[in-house]
Amino acid sequence: MPLKVLSVASEAVPLVKTGGLADVAGALPAAVAPHDVEITTLLPGYPAVQKALGKGKLVHKWASLLGQPARLLSGSIGKHKLLMLDCPAYFAREGGPYGDAGGQDWADNWQRFAAFGRAAADIASGKAKGHSFDLVHAHDWQAAMTLAYLKLASDTPDLPAVMTIHNMAFQGHFDAKVFPRLGLPSSAWSMDGVENYGGVGFLKAGMQMADIITTVSPSYAAEIRQPEFGMGLEGLVTTRGNRVRGILNGIDSTVWNPAEDSEIPAQYSVRTLARRKINKRAVEEAFGLERSDGPLFTAISRLTWQKGSDVLLEVLDHLVGVGGRLALLGSGDKAIEADLHGAAARHPGRIGVHIGYDETLSHRLQAGADAILVPSRFEPCGLTQLYGLAYGCVPVVARTGGLADTVIDANPAALCAGVATGVQFDGVHYHALRAAIDRVMALYQQPKQWRRVQQNGMKADFSWDASGRAYAELYRELTERTA
Ligand code: ADP
Ligand code: GLC
Repeated sequence: MPLKVLSVASEAVPLVKTGGLADVAGALPAAVAPHDVEITTLLPGYPAVQKALGKGKLVHKWASLLGQPARLLSGSIGKHKLLMLDCPAYFAREGGPYGDAGGQDWADNWQRFAAFGRAAADIASGKAKGHSFDLVHAHDWQAAMTLAYLKLASDTPDLPAVMTIHNMAFQGHFDAKVFPRLGLPSSAWSMDGVENYGGVGFLKAGMQMADIITTVSPSYAAEIRQPEFGMGLEGLVTTRGNRVRGILNGIDSTVWNPAEDSEIPAQYSVRTLARRKINKRAVEEAFGLERSDGPLFTAISRLTWQKGSDVLLEVLDHLVGVGGRLALLGSGDKAIEADLHGAAARHPGRIGVHIGYDETLSHRLQAGADAILVPSRFEPCGLTQLYGLAYGCVPVVARTGGLADTVIDANPAALCAGVATGVQFDGVHYHALRAAIDRVMALYQQPKQWRRVQQNGMKADFSWDASGRAYAELYRELTERTA
């Protein structure tokens, strides 16, 4: 009998994605399947999920889920099982999963995702006929209340529970006045429950109730013990220290396969390094850049403080001044978007900017640019540097979190030993990023070394194999402990 896990997530590839969480939640079922673990993913019934599921099969009904009627439908994502919480009042909205088309968070997010957690706890504890589970795995604050409802308000509090933090910066912190409407026992209002700095903390509650807390890289697991990275929850991380683990994300090779990428036309695949030249020409054309064999940088990112997009902006004149070019794909902070357009106007043919979200273009950039800039102030894992490694697009990363754990800096020792895979720099500020760009320019002038760095990256194994095994072992350890 496989071990049955309910994975609760607010997004999953290929149905709905705003960032790396979706990549991970989408890849996890296949990653653990070889280890006799069967994951069923529970997603909110956003329009995109409704559309993909079609009619689905009705498995459960709630007369009231925090005040709204809801249904549970089952179906599949690819080969894996899917459950969808159909609750039009909460999820049938145009816009993003968390906010409207203008980027404004929905005012009732506390209620939407508390209801999602309430439903997940009911399902995990066997209330939906024909669906039973050995363990529940919640991702990020949107799913975290699952654990609060399970451990504080269900008749099966012993079900083992894993809480994965993909980003400590998003905690789901709400005003204390929502507490009475959550339907939790009044004893839940305590430091050992959902209370957090005088409000209700969804992620905090999940971390408090979890049997094991994981985050997505070993370095980030250590960093979140410090205030700078723990963002108010460092105390809880430290108290629960022996229950906190770091498991690195992998690359889903069915989505990101350099040799056979289904997102891009066959001629753009990166079966050999030589093919990258054709792709580079295509990227230059798509971004209105001068044709040149000189280094072409890319950045594919949310444009936010976390991602260091402000510092990237500051360094663009220098990047162009030393002979670099940039093709950037991203969206986010409106002021940064406007300044990027300004930089492109200042440097026609040298800086090309595409504001928006474009999955296909992101694949083409990895397949055609020479180096990808990832100047994050913090990065729980980071996926774009992993895709860069796999595609021969050399990552240039801040030494933090998962970026520190996945890239080997091209320092003299690593170059001598022939093991370098990218460039790392310390501290996200103008001078550090400028120096990193200078190092890239110098390395690029040594074609043999450069090629070696690309090849090392392409050989590095960041598949889901090791991480899938690690999650499966963790699930087993927990179910055996409570058996
Ligand atoms: P985060 O989840 O913090 O945004 P990650 O590096 O873990 O960072 O994951 C980001 C994911 O989103 C990657 O798959 C990346 O390719 C994708 N991505 C980010 N911005 C864009 C964009 N503008 N267009 C297409 N894909 C994007
Ligand atoms: C978050 C983090 C990112 C991580 C992703 C998937 O969005 O910011 O570093 O790769 O989750 O775990």
